[in-house]
Amino acid sequence: MSPSTFQKNILCIGAGYVGGPTMAMIAAKCPQYKITVVDINPDRIAAWQTDHLPIYEPGLLEIVKQARGRNLFFSTEINRHIQEADIIFVSVNTPTKTFGEGAGKTADLQYWEKTARDILKASDSDKIIVEKSTLPVRTAAALERILHSNEKGIHFDIISNPEFLAEGTAVNDLLSPDRVLIGSRETEHGLKARQEIVDIYANWVPRERIITSNIWSSELSKLVANAFLAQRISSINSISALCEKTEASVGEVAYAIGQDSRIGSKFLNASVGFGGSCFKKDILNLVYIAESYGLFEVAEYWEQVVRMNEYQEHRFVRTMIAALFNTVSTKRIALFGFAFKADTGDTREAPAIYITRKLVEERAQVVISDPQAIANAKNDLADILSEVSFQQDPYLAAREAHAIAVLTEWNLYKTLDYRRIFQSMLKPAFIFDGRNILDRELLYKIGFNVYSIGRPPLTHFQD
Ligand SMILES: NC(=O)c1ccc[n+]([C@@H]2O[C@H](COP(=O)([O-])OP(=O)(O)OC[C@H]3O[C@@H](n4cnc5c(N)ncnc54)[C@H](O)[C@@H]3O)[C@@H](O)[C@H]2O)c1
Repeated sequence: MSPSTFQKNILCIGAGYVGGPTMAMIAAKCPQYKITVVDINPDRIAAWQTDHLPIYEPGLLEIVKQARGRNLFFSTEINRHIQEADIIFVSVNTPTKTFGEGAGKTADLQYWEKTARDILKASDSDKIIVEKSTLPVRTAAALERILHSNEKGIHFDIISNPEFLAEGTAVNDLLSPDRVLIGSRETEHGLKARQEIVDIYANWVPRERIITSNIWSSELSKLVANAFLAQRISSINSISALCEKTEASVGEVAYAIGQDSRIGSKFLNASVGFGGSCFKKDILNLVYIAESYGLFEVAEYWEQVVRMNEYQEHRFVRTMIAALFNTVSTKRIALFGFAFKADTGDTREAPAIYITRKLVEERAQVVISDPQAIANAKNDLADILSEVSFQQDPYLAAREAHAIAVLTEWNLYKTLDYRRIFQSMLKPAFIFDGRNILDRELLYKIGFNVYSIGRPPLTHFQD
């Protein structure tokens, strides 16, 4: 199909973890549309044009390759592509604000507002603007005000289409989503724009999985979905602390409650805590919104989900230090995993960041191992780089270590030869399984002192 015969010109502003994979999937499934992804970061755009994509995501390269150069293009020419586009998805980052009013809680919308102004300046025809980023509820109202301040007579329809993909499983989540949510104004114009976005997804998503709603419900649903997911993790983590005191096993408790179909079995793995760029920022955003409407009890309720997560990270380090005879000073500690979850190189808000910093404060020699996240880990720890070391090979990382802490549930760590690792470590050797992925009985038999989440430790010491 030649570029002039494409049915629609779709642009995405922001070529990150969401913009890149989402647009690659639309392009792969809809060869009749021309999809262009732009970003202010030229390195990111350059990387999307190679086989070394800027993000690690299983199966993504194959999807990109299906469409790249055919109907999927990456560019830094933002203004030109805004002008040409019929539909613009905006997927720029919306981090937590770090300054001024609402610092530490509300979303920093500076990238969003800049994008809106870029759109306003470069447009000379009507367009549909799709909120793909996660935004505070009622952002569309502000966006409409900015965009309709134009004197060119151009009409913009705002659509909310939050993304529910999870890193590590993005390709499958996009290929076969539980649901796609599309919210709009319920005016004639708004409903027509909504239908245009429905039509894009309907190319491969069954119609009954495409949910439509009013725009505010759609904006709010994304924050609420993340708050509920994180709440499940914090809930089971709170129970893990109780299990460690009572000899109940958190895995058995999670299984028993998860069999109740009203509760369900997913997202009940106790761990060192959740990370990722979204959960904490989106809950705090929800908290801030509730506070700003004077709903303080609502705000407090949700804020506790984040506090519980911090508690779980602190508790993990405290357990390590206590087990290692109350001092980790000069002790070599190997961290298995730095990414916030398996199958991604993303380390944003990873529990490993806090744990590393705390151990370094206690003057431990921390050695970080991870199959995909070492480059990001180096950025996260830029200010203490001279106090930590990096070793991709877990066997070398663990050599002569006093302890190992598993911080990411990479499959690789389940299949290592722990007998060999044990032999190369200093004794007594400790393993702290922050993801409950290892066979603790086997490790104990090998000779390790084993600390899991939500189970009493297995140690070779006599009390
Ligand atoms: N990462 C996830 O798993 C996930 C899942 C669902 C929703 N979200 C939401 O999606 C949004 C994007 O998240 P992400 O993880 O893709 O972020 P990201 O930081 O990986 O990507 C955002 C990109 O936007 C670019 N950008 C910023 N300002 C720009 C501008 N004015 N013009 C052009 N490009 C600009 C940045 O350079 C960056 O490459 C956020 O709101 C996030 O909350 C993320």
